[in-house]
Amino acid sequence: SGTLDLAVIGGDGIGPEVVAEALKVLSATGVDASTTDYDLGATRWHATGETLPDSVVEEIRGHDAILLGAIGDPSVPSGVLERGVLLPLRFALDHYVNLRPAKLYPGVTSPLADHVTSKGLDFVVVREGTEGPYVGNGGALRVGTPHEIATETSVNTRFGVERVVRDAFARAQARPRQHLTLVHKHNVLTHAGHLWRRTVEEVGAEFPDVETAYQHVDAATIFLATDPARFDVIVTDNLFGDIITDIAAAVAGGIGLAASGNINPTGAAPSMFEPVHGSAPDIAGQGTADPTAAILSASLLLAHVGRADEAARVEAAVATDLAERGDRVRSTSEIGDAVAARI
Ligand code: IPM
Ligand code: MN
Repeated sequence: SGTLDLAVIGGDGIGPEVVAEALKVLSATGVDASTTDYDLGATRWHATGETLPDSVVEEIRGHDAILLGAIGDPSVPSGVLERGVLLPLRFALDHYVNLRPAKLYPGVTSPLADHVTSKGLDFVVVREGTEGPYVGNGGALRVGTPHEIATETSVNTRFGVERVVRDAFARAQARPRQHLTLVHKHNVLTHAGHLWRRTVEEVGAEFPDVETAYQHVDAATIFLATDPARFDVIVTDNLFGDIITDIAAAVAGGIGLAASGNINPTGAAPSMFEPVHGSAPDIAGQGTADPTAAILSASLLLAHVGRADEAARVEAAVATDLAERGDRVRSTSEIGDAVAARI
């Protein structure tokens, strides 16, 4: 296998710091990788007013995969970078599977230790990544008046729902428990709910080994917080998935450990791997951010590009580091060094 050609987007806040550690660990695996940095985020916006020029999307498209730190900064109006950089990348590269594993590693204390430690916690959320309320289909009328109206229409297409549901079934089929839970809110969102339920039922016929369940999103938050061991694979829409993966990260030991992949399973465009956490401007530049989520995202990246062996070695090195870290306070680069040394 040849050189892995990576696009690297450090982004804002702690993004570049944690990405540097992920690259350190990646290089410790011996994978032959070349990296190209793309300067996107607040700095570029302040300097040029640009968010994500089309020419940059086209350059990024040519790489094998993308490693991203974080996008978002308080010096930029809310939504400008999210809607201008992160979401357009996910949409343009058709990252319809937003894969967010939640796993409680030995030695990591969950805030719900009493609930989860005995049973463990190891599930994965397949969050739809290109539709739902994220499409920007909305508008405002009579802004600033007492009769202001704001709408954000959730768009769910049969094509979009079916492809993510099929991917989730395939992932469930490949896991020991072979269980898939659809999370939605069909008692209120009847149109989209009906489409999602019917699609799960129909695609499920292709996966007779996979047992399915359904939960309304509000009830799902209770079980995620009290009995997460019941979940194996969860499939859900873009916004519900955004919300429940923060809960999932919290119960699995904190947002500093949560990794994700924005995946285009067709391979028609590169997939993008990023920690679930944001740019954490309050601690940026201090060298105190935990790079573990970024390192685990690099492990997901390696698995995606067919380097299963190296991916497993990175995950194992993180697991050992977590098991032995205790309450020690280490800097960003100390954690990166320690994990790299265990590869
Ligand atoms: C995430 C983030 C993004 C999202 C924001 C920054 C647009 O919260 O990756 O979960 O909502 O998807
Ligand atoms: Mn989020």
